Amino acid sequence: MSEAIKDIEDLPGVGPVTAEKLRAGGFATIESIAVSSPGELHEVAELTEATAAKVIAAARKAADVGGFLSGEELYERRQSIGRITSGSKRLDELIGGGFETQAIIEAFGEFGSGKSQIAHQLIVMVQLEREKGGLDSGAVFIDTENTFRPERVMQIAAHHGLDPHEALRKIKVARAFNSSHQILLAERAEELFEKGEARLLVVDSLTAMFRAEYVGRGTLAERQQKLGMHLRQLHKIANEYDSCIYVTNQVSAKPDAFFGDPTRPIGGHILGHSATLRLYLRKSKQGQRIARLVDSPSLPEGEALFMVTEHGVEDK
Ligand code: GTP
Ligand code: MG
Repeated sequence: MSEAIKDIEDLPGVGPVTAEKLRAGGFATIESIAVSSPGELHEVAELTEATAAKVIAAARKAADVGGFLSGEELYERRQSIGRITSGSKRLDELIGGGFETQAIIEAFGEFGSGKSQIAHQLIVMVQLEREKGGLDSGAVFIDTENTFRPERVMQIAAHHGLDPHEALRKIKVARAFNSSHQILLAERAEELFEKGEARLLVVDSLTAMFRAEYVGRGTLAERQQKLGMHLRQLHKIANEYDSCIYVTNQVSAKPDAFFGDPTRPIGGHILGHSATLRLYLRKSKQGQRIARLVDSPSLPEGEALFMVTEHGVEDK
């Protein structure tokens, strides 16, 4: 992106009032404006078509679209992929050797299926040395459901030989109050990745706020648009900072419930195609959990059995 133009206010023809309208209409970034049409901008921000065309042209010039990479460069990039162990060998194997960087991994499942427990596990495990299955780095946790439990982090850290307070210091947590705030927090999180303070970002839950705010059929398109934008932010962090993104998504356990098929998570297609790996979690007998890998383009479908115990995530 060019030096001078970083925020949408920096675009010629966009003042504070217009910027506010554009944001409210879902055009919060230079990139989103770059790919919009004059008609859309006219509709959300009452710009004349001529002004809108100028704003779009400026945004296209300033937008960070990245460039083409050769196949060889992409291959090199894949070589640097890091992996975080979950604490369960079976779960790691299911997903090709651990939770990988340059990827978004989505865990979906009903309440209590272990989505947040895996989040707590990963924010500790990423801190381990590489030989022990970590990335020797910190983590960022965007908490939308008030699920972050420092005591749980300390417990898991101690079990893996880390100093519990040191482990907590390497985790940056923020509570999101609504979906817009969640998007802003992801933007702020990027700064921490830029500084090299973290290589794992957790969003727990990715979808709860969106689901609560956009109720009813008429709002579905808007919800998907905003969620899509949020996912693009996450992909950017995953790829530019060689980081792992772990997101959770609750589904109803009852087949007859509002969301229908329990294996169809909230977020529908946008999320489905955006996540690099998708794990469907469910509860089983005696505190066991089953993880099923779904729709993976490069790994065989399969299941892994793991436990959530006082030590965190473990094999049975
Ligand atoms: P929702 O956020 O409600 O959708 O569920 P979730 O999938 O995030 O569930 P979560 O990961 O919070 O799992 C909760 C379950 O983990 C509990 O029902 C316990 O079975 C287990 N658990 C959580 N903490 C502990 C602990 O300290 N010790 C043990 N043994 N189990 C725990
Ligand atoms: Mg949870």
